Amino acid sequence: MTAAVVGIIGGSGVYDLPGLEDVREERIDTPWGAPSDALRFGRIGKTNAVFLPRHGRGHAFSPSGINYRANIDALKRVGVTDIVSVSACGSFRAELYPGLFVLVDQFVDRTFSRASSFFGDGCVAHVSMAHPVAPQLAERIHAAAQAEEVACVAGGTYVCIEGPQFSTYAESLTYKNAGYDVIGMTALPEAKLAREAEISYATIAMVTDFDCWHPEHDNVDVAAVIDVVKKNAASASRLLARLLHDFPETHEPCPIGSDRALDNAIITAPEA
Ligand code: ADE
Repeated sequence: MTAAVVGIIGGSGVYDLPGLEDVREERIDTPWGAPSDALRFGRIGKTNAVFLPRHGRGHAFSPSGINYRANIDALKRVGVTDIVSVSACGSFRAELYPGLFVLVDQFVDRTFSRASSFFGDGCVAHVSMAHPVAPQLAERIHAAAQAEEVACVAGGTYVCIEGPQFSTYAESLTYKNAGYDVIGMTALPEAKLAREAEISYATIAMVTDFDCWHPEHDNVDVAAVIDVVKKNAASASRLLARLLHDFPETHEPCPIGSDRALDNAIITAPEA
């Protein structure tokens, strides 16, 4: 039996995890380089948690500049079994309004300039990304949101763009017409790397804006994103605290095998 350790990756405007007790910080080095910041270890209830601000405290790293491999590898090295990532996102649907949390379950990759695999030279692996989110983890997050009366919907497709610029109007309409629900710049490399690291993964995408497609809303800018994140930070903290408080002590095997993803993925011969 493996003890459950929950890794929380905070996004824009989420640089801390209020409620974490017995906190200690440690800088972890990895073969991929340094993570975005020191890891913050602590617990909520009986659950051990590790917090990492994706962009670093003070928001030093842009979406393309984040060392995603170091971040996920550092979490793996300290025993994280489940990752909950929190990220701001734009919305392509009128009913997905700013302040709402969306538990996305699909991703579309429009990034082109970031390392998003641990494999390559000397050892090749192809993990399945058919279902990128661990369903039990997402269900637990949803239950925590309901218990805390935090507005949250389950399911949705997140298109991950390279950034750092926001989309053009034509791009925004293209993504909307394609049926995508939300847009962000960070969650997808994490989902891929977590799968390769055999860590169960789910994203809480916090809607902060309507990107630039909506005729009745201003085009997205940073001030609007941060304003919405700040207004909803307390809800995010409550949700996460409840999730951790109610988390099982031992890691539950993932029904879709996200914690065993390498069992049938490595194609390089052992002697190669
Ligand atoms: N993060 C928050 N809002 C966004 C948007 N509209 N596009 C990309 N990333 C975002």
